[in-house]
Amino acid sequence: MANVQLSELEEYLQQLDGFDEPKVLLEQYSTSAHIASHMLYCAQIQFADIEGRTVADLGCGCGILSLGAQMLGSSHVIGFEIDADALKIQYKNCSEIELFVEAVQCDILRYLPGRFEKYFDTVIMNPPFGTKRNAGTDMKFLKIATKLASNVVYSLHKRSTRNYVLQKAAQYGAKGKVIAELKYDLPKAYKFHKKASVDVQVDFIRFELLNH
Ligand SMILES: C[S@@+](CC[C@H](N)C(=O)[O-])C[C@H]1O[C@@H](n2cnc3c(N)ncnc32)[C@H](O)[C@@H]1O
Repeated sequence: MANVQLSELEEYLQQLDGFDEPKVLLEQYSTSAHIASHMLYCAQIQFADIEGRTVADLGCGCGILSLGAQMLGSSHVIGFEIDADALKIQYKNCSEIELFVEAVQCDILRYLPGRFEKYFDTVIMNPPFGTKRNAGTDMKFLKIATKLASNVVYSLHKRSTRNYVLQKAAQYGAKGKVIAELKYDLPKAYKFHKKASVDVQVDFIRFELLNH
């Protein structure tokens, strides 16, 4: 593996910039360096799903998961993101840490169906949870992810939806296993949040494609 320790990966990812002005409807909150590094490290150390693998990051935002995958030795990473402002930050992040990942600006719900099918070994993502006027977005992301991946999808989902998510995944041809239960600390990025931060109970799930 690219010779990177977990603590080193987390330190690198801490240097990255997040969203300047997060957009509520797109559910723009960055994965923390702590969570991102543990997701990626687990995917590599426990399952060998990152190094030498082609990786897609759906809704890549400012690039924390894409860049982390690249640091761990992915052979090719492509991030897909709808928002040009987020991709500008990703570009800046790439320049600052001198790593390169590709990014495609698109609405993945419109652009990806029928493209890149089974092109990627691994998809990793922190999708919008689909709670703000866009119910079900996480499941649409998951459905697309299972079409893009030939092997495995890693994703975060609200714990309250666990049974539903696992059932839907089975319909998409993927067997989901909860790898970790996380407390996701959403910073007070939005005006409607009254508290300084809101804790959300989240599952980190590994979905193995059944036909790979
Ligand atoms: C929860 S954020 C995660 C951002 C980043 N992956 C991370 O881990 O920090 C979800 C991301 O999905 C993007 N997004 C939302 N809807 C999208 C769509 N239809 N197509 C592509 N990207 C989308 C948002 O702009 C946002 O960057």
